[in-house]
Amino acid sequence: MNHLHRKELLTVQWRRNAVQIIDQTKLPNKLVYLTCTDHREIAKAIKSLVVRGAPAIGICAALALLLVTLNSKAKTERGLRSELERAGSLLISTRPTAVNINWAVRRILQISSKGKNVKEIKRLVKLEALIMLDDDILTNRKMGRAGSDLFYDGDVVMTHCNAGSLATATYGTALGVLRAAREDGKNLKVIATETRPVMQGSRLTAFELMYDHFDVRLISDTAVGYVMANRMVDKVIVGADRILRTGHVYNKIGTYQIATMAHIHKIPFYVAAPISTFDLKSSISEIKIEDRSADEITKIKNILIAPKGIHTINPAFDITPPNLITGIITEAGLLEPPYQRSIGAIIQRSKRY
Ligand code: MRU
Repeated sequence: MNHLHRKELLTVQWRRNAVQIIDQTKLPNKLVYLTCTDHREIAKAIKSLVVRGAPAIGICAALALLLVTLNSKAKTERGLRSELERAGSLLISTRPTAVNINWAVRRILQISSKGKNVKEIKRLVKLEALIMLDDDILTNRKMGRAGSDLFYDGDVVMTHCNAGSLATATYGTALGVLRAAREDGKNLKVIATETRPVMQGSRLTAFELMYDHFDVRLISDTAVGYVMANRMVDKVIVGADRILRTGHVYNKIGTYQIATMAHIHKIPFYVAAPISTFDLKSSISEIKIEDRSADEITKIKNILIAPKGIHTINPAFDITPPNLITGIITEAGLLEPPYQRSIGAIIQRSKRY
């Protein structure tokens, strides 16, 4: 772990046989940690957005399965494997759009199938889950290196939602690229959108960038067109919850709107995501967009801000088509259009997919 800086926000940690996560529902007012010793606590934390962000929930799912093995009283390999499968299904059901939970569960189940007895399964699962936690940080740093050159000294960069330390184990994907550019001596200014309705931009991105002494300005989501039309933004960078073979990017609701405005104003629009976020098998019709509670848009602090009983549409994610995306930054390098070709080539080269 010597690649960690002392003061980094550590969103997901493995400590004394428990998973320690930053409780993001308390930010920006309090930086407090929640300790989970049971996989059901982690499932609940993911569902209630205590921990969120595609890579972070993937790592949490892997560590939740490690907890299953620690807590299990199973005497046979079959018994332990079926406990892991049941827990995996529970974790996958918490948030359907981000591919990372599926990826993490699949990877742990695959490794568990290699164990010849209960003790060996436990050992293999522990090793794999901890490698995944450590890899997440190394991957983010590699992604940062791969994307740093796209940003110039003095650039003003817009970001949406939170694709930072708080969405990963630490360092971040989109914000990781900005951190890497700053480590290369470039002075960047950031514009964070508030990201209605859950406010990941104002509560989390603004918090973590100020925590790291970035020059950051907060705007309302409705100001995106204004700041672009007035040439107040040089580039946009966001994260992703799932990327299809075609280059369609699933990310926080509002991303598509921002990408469209960026396209109209000829502002480069970048996506930063690890290879674990790519889903080469599914098509758009197979992916469920998480539909969230009406309360998120009709209430603020439990006070109604819309007529009682109003019907709502509250999707958590949208899809940005490839023609609006200038480049996709991964730990294996920058992918450029046509994505069908560049994504296929890079995934084939990656052993871990
Ligand atoms: O609903 P959330 O907060 O989990 O949504 C998070 C996002 O949309 C992020 O942009 C995405 O997970 C990329 S995080 C590196």
